Amino acid sequence: MEIKKGLEDVYVKETEITYIDGELGRLYYRGYSIYDLAEFSNFEETSYLILYGKLPNVYEYENFVKSLRESRGISDRVKEFLKGVKKNAYPMDVLRTAVSIMGLEENSHTYSVSEQSIINLISKFPTIISYYIRLRRDLEPVEPDTSLSHAANFLYMVNGTKPSEEECRAMDVAMILHIDHEMNASTFASLVVASTLSDIYSAIIAGISALKGPLHGGANYEALKMFREIGDVENVEKYILNRLANKQRIMGFGHRVYKTYDPRARILKSYAKLLAEKKGGEIRRLYEIAEKVEEIGIKYLGSKGIYPNVDFYSSIVFYALGFEPEFFPTVFASARVTGWIAHILEYVKDNKIIRPKAYYKGEIGRKYIPLDSR
Ligand code: COA
Repeated sequence: MEIKKGLEDVYVKETEITYIDGELGRLYYRGYSIYDLAEFSNFEETSYLILYGKLPNVYEYENFVKSLRESRGISDRVKEFLKGVKKNAYPMDVLRTAVSIMGLEENSHTYSVSEQSIINLISKFPTIISYYIRLRRDLEPVEPDTSLSHAANFLYMVNGTKPSEEECRAMDVAMILHIDHEMNASTFASLVVASTLSDIYSAIIAGISALKGPLHGGANYEALKMFREIGDVENVEKYILNRLANKQRIMGFGHRVYKTYDPRARILKSYAKLLAEKKGGEIRRLYEIAEKVEEIGIKYLGSKGIYPNVDFYSSIVFYALGFEPEFFPTVFASARVTGWIAHILEYVKDNKIIRPKAYYKGEIGRKYIPLDSR
């Protein structure tokens, strides 16, 4: 009997969706290198690829894009909920509850996944998130614009102005890079739920709940908080040494699978740099701090195979694109929802309820003593 703590190195299913080479720092979606997808594709096309296993032809692509664009609107019930939520609620909790309302509206309580529920989940996440962002800023929510791409429309709904070409591209690439990542904690959580043949919304809510944690998708928020806390490039080395001496982690560093530089972080770094140069001010200052944290972090942790991960530079990219730090994990979720769905579809096709074991090491045969005699 061997217990694999954290299920490290345990395979729970075969997959044809995503392959990670953790030693060489390579990532492939359906066999395509992440570098090619980040250079040539967009969120919609890569989502199609992840879901259906092949790049769409023109007809399939246009149909998929059209369905996504036409399904962006959220119901009055979800809007009312968002209007009623307190302004300091944690955004991942708000997203989780809004998705729960979507599930209630569809009234699906056992497993069945229609094309429309797939489209609804992917297309409505940005609308829910931006609606709440605008309400928190005491601004009118912005209705989706069907003439814009998924990434451009997301930024438009958040900021109320049409984004520049560079901002659109940065958002599109960031979303591509977050779509899937093999058997991560949130994907596993959603599979556990789907394997019981519960409904897709419940499975996605499990994914959101797992992604929220600071060791997973919440790390982007923690990374930005850390850059702000450091405050100046001069303070980086002292701060990092202090943190390590106190057994605290460098947020946005380290990964269960990558033992080298995460390729997603490499790509995001180039966009963080570009946006820092364009926007200047606080964004540039935070980028410079991040670059220094990278250098010092690798100096002290690189020999243990601990390098920047996806959340390290995505934090700067999301911030530069107009998202408040607390919302970063929701942006991650809005892309990862595609990956959750793809893995659920793949797993349930040949379903077996996920039911591992726990090794009992307590006593047995204890004598029950009534309450008044204890
Ligand atoms: N900063 C400092 N030390 C770190 C570290 C980090 N970010 N990540 C891992 N380590 C160290 C641990 O302290 C441990 O050291 P030890 O063996 O001396 O005790 C060792 O590396 C292994 O860490 P462990 O937590 O067992 O690895 P894991 O595979 O279970 O955890 C993460 C992976 C991602 C949870 C972990 O690297 C982490 O907490 N990173 C920070 C949060 C983060 O960025 N998460 C986003 C992941 S995409």
